[in-house]
Amino acid sequence: MGSYFLESEIAFDADGRLIDAGYHDADTKAFEPRDLRGVFGTFATGVTVVSAMSVSGEVSGATANSFTSVSLDPPLVLVCFARDSRTLSAMRNSGRFAIQILAKGQEDVAWHFAGRPMTDGAPVLSGETERGVPCLEDALCVVDCDLSQVLPGGDHRIVLGEVKGFQMSQTHVEPLVFHRGKFGDFQGNES
Ligand SMILES: Cc1cc2nc3c(=O)[nH]c(=O)nc-3n(C[C@H](O)[C@H](O)[C@H](O)COP(=O)(O)O)c2cc1C
Repeated sequence: MGSYFLESEIAFDADGRLIDAGYHDADTKAFEPRDLRGVFGTFATGVTVVSAMSVSGEVSGATANSFTSVSLDPPLVLVCFARDSRTLSAMRNSGRFAIQILAKGQEDVAWHFAGRPMTDGAPVLSGETERGVPCLEDALCVVDCDLSQVLPGGDHRIVLGEVKGFQMSQTHVEPLVFHRGKFGDFQGNES
């Protein structure tokens, strides 16, 4: 049995249902990376900002939805980063990073750390975890990690982090959600 991949443009009907699945055998037809990105985008995720400070004191942060919980014992998480990410460099350099899970309504923060800086009242990584990693003052959760392993993953790197501590917000309850290139909430409302 062969593997099947999406070959054609992805099409959705007015209700957002997938109407053109266009499956073809991977052995006979290549597919466009753009189409594959569309497939990945159908997987709804939460949104995080990953932050780190290099040994020389340079603070960086990047929005990432590749966050996954891996193991409770030992406590491990993973996040995938583009090979040339500045935040990845700082993580590797210091061996520590913080993952902040964003709350409903924080899409401006997500855009800011995805390379679309806010012009006024820009969110800054002015907080600090107990272990001195720069973090957002306001998020649903902050997870403080030691860098455990960096594994190859094509044009990305798979970063395994060992959880050393965490904080949960007393005020935020609902997460920010990312689906098909748009932010929204858990009820499916786009924002
Ligand atoms: C919703 C969303 C999720 C993203 N997830 C990731 C991700 O998991 N890994 C990644 O490398 N880039 C991801 N990006 C893109 C980075 O946030 C963006 O390239 C950022 O500018 C990298 O910053 P840096 O080079 O300073 O680390 C995402 C962007 C958005 C808007």
